[in-house]
Amino acid sequence: MSSDKEDVKEVRGLKLYKKKHKTIKKLLKKTSTPEIHGDKVWFSSYIIMDYLLENPPETNSRIMEIGSGWGILSIWCAKQFSAEVIAVDADKNVFPFLHMHAELNNTSVKTKVSKYEKLKSGLLAQQDMVLGGDICFWDELIGPLYTLIKKSLKNGVKTIVIADPGRSPFLKLAKKCKKKFNSELLEVELKNPVKEEGYLLVIKNK
Ligand SMILES: C[S@@+](CC[C@H](N)C(=O)[O-])C[C@H]1O[C@@H](n2cnc3c(N)ncnc32)[C@H](O)[C@@H]1O
Repeated sequence: MSSDKEDVKEVRGLKLYKKKHKTIKKLLKKTSTPEIHGDKVWFSSYIIMDYLLENPPETNSRIMEIGSGWGILSIWCAKQFSAEVIAVDADKNVFPFLHMHAELNNTSVKTKVSKYEKLKSGLLAQQDMVLGGDICFWDELIGPLYTLIKKSLKNGVKTIVIADPGRSPFLKLAKKCKKKFNSELLEVELKNPVKEEGYLLVIKNK
């Protein structure tokens, strides 16, 4: 895919298309544009990248990103840690954005259309880590995510990391997790590409 240099920026060693890039503009205008907020890269993904730089997974780890949107976190994990990554989202319309960024960064990531609650035990059992940036933004998502976390731990996922700007459904989810799982909620500061504050929910298998 061709890319005009000025329409590409670099963040955390990844190349990202700017919103003014012609293919991005075209995809966002189509009737098949993302419908559940997967229409840009959200800063929570960068919070997870910073956490993983401090707490790196083993090389070749198997990582699932849920609510991946454009999948920038997935692509970064594939490049940074040679991880085997699967990006999951309920909205199939996010994946053209993911694939064009994977191609731009000379890497590949598997994709799957699925809601959180529909992910099967067999697939979860193949993962070392489950990650998600800004994925708990409605109260209706708390139950499905809690169930997914429980199922992931039962199936041997070692670490689950969810980042968020601090939305109330996420904080409720964190409170539920604190009661039942080996989890911690960390307040974090993001310095780049934007200055923001947010939270990390880190859940580890006992
Ligand atoms: C706010 S966006 C965040 C996207 C990405 N993680 C990021 O940081 O840029 C939330 C994403 O979650 C997806 N999503 C919403 N509800 C979902 C569900 N029940 N199951 C799976 N994905 C869902 C949306 O389609 C969207 O791509």
